[in-house]
Amino acid sequence: MLIKNGIIVNADGRMSGDLRIKDGKIVKIGEALKAEEAEEILDVNGAYILPGGVDVHTHIDMPAGECMTSDDYSSGTKAAVMGGTTTVMDFAEYDEGETLQDGLDCWHKKAAGKAYCDYSFHMTVSGFDESIKEELARIKEQGITSFKAYTAYQDGIGVNDDQLFLILQQMKELGTLLCVHCENGDVLRCLQQQLKERDASDIKNHPKSRPNLTEKEAVSRVIDFAAMADVPVYIVHVSTKEAAEVIREAKRKGQKVYAETCPQYLLLDESRYELPDFESAKYVLSPPLRTEADKEALWEAVEDGTIDAVSTDHCSFWFHGQKDLGREDFTRIPNGMPGIETRMELMLHYGRKRGLTMEKLTELLSAKPAEIFGIYPEKGKLQEGSDADLVIVREDRPHKISAETLNEEVDYTPYEGFEVTYQIQDVFVGGIQAKKEGGWILKKPEGRFLTCR
Ligand code: URP
Ligand code: ZN
Ligand code: ZN
Repeated sequence: MLIKNGIIVNADGRMSGDLRIKDGKIVKIGEALKAEEAEEILDVNGAYILPGGVDVHTHIDMPAGECMTSDDYSSGTKAAVMGGTTTVMDFAEYDEGETLQDGLDCWHKKAAGKAYCDYSFHMTVSGFDESIKEELARIKEQGITSFKAYTAYQDGIGVNDDQLFLILQQMKELGTLLCVHCENGDVLRCLQQQLKERDASDIKNHPKSRPNLTEKEAVSRVIDFAAMADVPVYIVHVSTKEAAEVIREAKRKGQKVYAETCPQYLLLDESRYELPDFESAKYVLSPPLRTEADKEALWEAVEDGTIDAVSTDHCSFWFHGQKDLGREDFTRIPNGMPGIETRMELMLHYGRKRGLTMEKLTELLSAKPAEIFGIYPEKGKLQEGSDADLVIVREDRPHKISAETLNEEVDYTPYEGFEVTYQIQDVFVGGIQAKKEGGWILKKPEGRFLTCR
């Protein structure tokens, strides 16, 4: 197929021109390309052509306490593609008593034959001993080059300081990257207990139990541990001004720290916890939504390069039937929010409003995450030889975001009523058109597992 008359945008520049795709790859980019015999032509008439979005933080088909996330690989990746994301990197986990390999095998089964876009995994590590050490090397051989640790939830998935440090040393040994969820688990557990004793049904206790400094302290500790282990580290879902400052300072000193934030921390704030009738449960996630000042600081961190990537932390639970479980006890509300489908349109709209260029947005949404996690330039770049994952975006299509028209398998969107002007019109996944003029046309889920470098 020949896609004609687009503004082809990459993180490092743009050109007006045409792009030919064949056998799943971009085979030619140029000006005024001539159609080959019987070649299908799509004239995009001045629309942007962007590299498919790369969302490196999702939780699909994941157990969480008493619940299972509402999106499986079928609905989750369809929603991703409809929103312009053509690669997801999901967190694979293992249960107590299982090996990492058990967890990875389980995640492969969840995704195989169901994913509508290419995918890979970060493997969660929830402890450290000799057998885990050996497994990390074996998991790496299977194309998983990033792992994840939590500095909270020590009663389950979380790790202690000694385990964290040993995992980081092992990352150094293997040349792999650790993603870290940074909150001080001990402090937030104490605060949760104290607040629960006062009024367990008050959702405002959720953000109160996780103040900014629980994140800042953990980010700072993790960065220092990474320095002591002499290894890069990736901080997930940065939500506070204080944590952004710590990361900025570490980068300024030359430490290799990568950081990610999410649209919810740039666009929503803690006033959502004031909503009546349990509505605020929709916004219970960790870390929680913060203040206007935090939002502003995070935008500045995005602008000055302190933040490298904007991912979603998509972790969807039904409002009716799952979030409900915590009506009498805020600690039982499953933590997480949907967002896999809305990331690109929201970030293009609000990013442009902030003055970010399309190139910078492409860097944040596709190129840099692909590069950090070893799948660039097959993903995250429009160039000859790269995968034909493309998004055609119109900038003059005002519309309102609504759960009614989204494909995420969940009964709400945190962005209900948000007005955006950028619209994802067409999406190609591996050279095959999945979205055409706003509608879904892909027949089969042919997403492939990506081995990362
Ligand atoms: O509340 C959240 N973010 N749930 C998903 C798991 C995590 O901590 O990233
Ligand atoms: Zn997290
Ligand atoms: Zn997460």
